[in-house]
Order: sequence, then C-alpha cells, then structure tokens
Amino acid sequence: MKRRPDLPPRTRGRFARRLTSAAARGQFELPVCQACGTVQYPVREACRSCLSDNLRWEAVAPGATMLSATIIRHSTDAYFQTLRPLGMASVRLDAGPVAMVRYDCSDGPVAPGTRLQIQNQLDRSGEAILVAVPEQAKGSSDVLRDPNRQIGGKTVLITGADGGIGKALVKALRDAGAAKIIAATRRPQESAADSVVQSLLLDVTDQAAVARAAELHGHEVDILINNAGFTAVAGLLDADTMDGATREMQVNYFGTLAMIRGFAPHFSARKQGVIVNVLSVLAHVSLPSMGSYCASKAATLSLTQGVRAELLPWGVRVCAVFPSTVDTAASADSPPPKLAPAQVASAIVTMIRDGSEESYPGAIASDLAGALRADAKAVEREMALGLPEPR
Ligand SMILES: NC(=O)c1ccc[n+]([C@@H]2O[C@H](COP(=O)([O-])OP(=O)(O)OC[C@H]3O[C@@H](n4cnc5c(N)ncnc54)[C@H](OP(=O)(O)O)[C@@H]3O)[C@@H](O)[C@H]2O)c1
Ligand SMILES: [Zn+2]
Repeated sequence: MKRRPDLPPRTRGRFARRLTSAAARGQFELPVCQACGTVQYPVREACRSCLSDNLRWEAVAPGATMLSATIIRHSTDAYFQTLRPLGMASVRLDAGPVAMVRYDCSDGPVAPGTRLQIQNQLDRSGEAILVAVPEQAKGSSDVLRDPNRQIGGKTVLITGADGGIGKALVKALRDAGAAKIIAATRRPQESAADSVVQSLLLDVTDQAAVARAAELHGHEVDILINNAGFTAVAGLLDADTMDGATREMQVNYFGTLAMIRGFAPHFSARKQGVIVNVLSVLAHVSLPSMGSYCASKAATLSLTQGVRAELLPWGVRVCAVFPSTVDTAASADSPPPKLAPAQVASAIVTMIRDGSEESYPGAIASDLAGALRADAKAVEREMALGLPEPR
C-alpha cells in the first residue's frame, strides 16, 4: 500500500523486523552473539566483533549515556515536519553499541554524559524506533507524539461491559481519564445517572444493531474495546452439537468483525483511533478441552492482523490482549491460578499508553508466549496433556 505522506516511512528487512516484534510487546531486545557475547546495533546478521552468525535476540539493559544531541528544525518530509522540532541523539548503550535515538527536546538539548533509559516503541507506521527518556522516568514517554496514546478526554466504547473484564475495563478507563465511556451490553442495565458512563444496548451478533451503533456513535468514539465473548467450554468432538462452536464464532469472530467494520471507517476518516481486541493466549495454541473456543480466538487473531494492516496507513492502531485464565463467570469451572479482571484492564490501559500492540498480562500468559516463540509444536503437545484420559 502506498505510504501516506504524513506517516513515517516503513522500510525494514525481515531480520530487522525482530526489533518491531519486540516493540509490539513493549520490549527492548537486540541480537546478542552467542559466541562472544557482543550486543549488535545496528542490527545485523553476523557479529560485528567475531563474524559468528550465531546471534540470538535477547532483552538487553535499557541504560544509556548521552554522547551528543541535535535538534532538527527543518525537513522536506511531511511526516517529519509534523514532529519538528525533533530531538535526535547519539547514545552509548550500557550493553555496548552506540545508537541513534529520538529524545524529547521540548526543554532544549540534553547535555552529554546525561544518563538515559532506552525504550523500543512503535511509531505511527507500526515500525520500531528507539527513544531515550530520563533514567528515572516511569512508564512510556510520548516522544513520538502519537495522539492514539492518550486516554484523557477520549470517548471509549466497550462491548460486554457488564461482564467480569468489562466492568474492570469501565473502571480502569474512567480512572485513566476517559471523558465518556459507552458501556455496551447485551442485556438492559439498571443504570444510575453518571456523567462519564453511558449505557448502550448492543448484541454484537446483531449486524443491523451494530451498524446503527456505529452510525450513532462512530463520530465520537476514539477507542473501541471488543471485549464481548462467549465460551461453550467444550472440545471440538466431545460437544453434543455444533451450537456452542457456532455461537463462539458468531460472538467472538463475527461480532468483533462487525464492530470493526462499523467503526473503522469513522476512525480512518479522522486519521486516528485505537481498536483493542480481547483475545486469549489460547488464540495461539489450542487447549483441546475448549478447542472450539480456541479456534474462534485464533480466527479473531487472524482478523486482528488483517485489519491492523488495512488500518495502519490511516493512522489507526489495532491492539490485542492475550490473557491466561481470568477470574470471571466465563471461567468459573477453570482451575486456578486466575488473573484478577483488574489486571487485564490495567494491561490494556498500559498497552494503549505505551503504543504497543500486544499484551500478555500475568506470568502464565507471558511464559506461554515465550515458549510458543521458542517452539510452538512443543507447546501444542503440552496442551494436549490437559485432556482427560480416554474412557
Ligand atoms: N475469563 C477468562 O478466563 C478469559 C481469558 C482470556 C480471555 N477472555 C476473554 O475476555 C472477554 C470477556 O470475558 P469475561 O471473562 O469477562 O467473561 P464474562 O464475565 O462472561 O463476560 C462476557 C461478556 O460478553 C458479553 N456477551 C456475550 N455475548 C454477547 C453478545 N452476543 N453481544 C454482546 N455482548 C455479549 C456477556 O454478556 P451476557 O452475559 O449478556 O451474555 C458479558 O458481558 C471475552 O472475550 C473472553 O473470551 C476471558
Ligand atoms: Zn561475536
């Protein structure tokens, strides 16, 4: 797709894209030589010190020291014009190499010798950019000036807002400063008057109702959280009928697709917006005792990737959260440990603010994601052990 002139360029090879995949998870990773330990930057496929091609992407120390800085005040490029004045610095990473990074120059240049912390962030084209923030800074800085990262003053629509995670999301987004929260539910709510939260009756499987909601609220919604979900809790073969599997696809996949198809044109027209899909770590691997649910979340993950690519040129960010078991009605029969719904909601707020694309809240989901990156087949076999012994 042609580059929009007011978005940054996207020119990276497959190897360098590992930097992007780490940024999508909010991590700072670089290739590390397994023969001599040298950290590589700029990223390359053979060690700059010993020429070994045995490199592994690993998390590296985020500390750095400022070497020199400059402020760019002019550019012929439409995107860089929007960022002027643009702070660019050369820093010595504690991990070894020198890197060119962006920094916040709103208070003027930063002196050589200043200690910094490096963050690997996604820019508006979805590519990774190294950003320097003060060493003590907590959370992500908005050096890249991405309007999609702000929650304060925004309007958020949450589906399944009366469920376990849905309720926690309403609270977390309100605490994060959202100006208006449209809490969409399938059943009528006894809602008390509220200056921030407004309820909306919406069954995401009713395409006409979704289209009406988009027509009514599309102009005002900045952040859409597709949280409504259904689990039949059954295997693909041991379910008596296909009703549960059908409903899972209707709610989880087609419901999410209908919502995005309704709201995305409004986001594209305004050239900003955030869509968050509440998936599951089981979108990546089947837990056979709830195989049809996993298939519906896998389909929704594929949907997430597709719409992300279609919307990226329009400045719209599409994110996904991949929790393990959460303590809600949907998982009442699942064994512990379970995440608190508030942990999932807080991970979503952090993901929006950091501009990252993926979040794996809790140790179980992040460990499983790491294991899947290392060897997806091994995890598939491990999950198969979760089935009861054949009778
Ligand atoms: N709980 C977990 O272990 C877990 C783990 C990973 C991901 N998730 C995902 O997290 C999301 C929220 O689930 P939860 O754990 O909070 O479960 P929950 O308490 O059962 O909430 C699910 C919500 O989705 C709503 N919903 C279902 N079908 C709908 C439809 N056709 N239209 C509109 N809303 C509909 C439900 O409303 P009704 O009650 O009216 O049906 C309810 O508000 C789901 O997408 C789920 O797959 C959950
Ligand atoms: Zn080496």
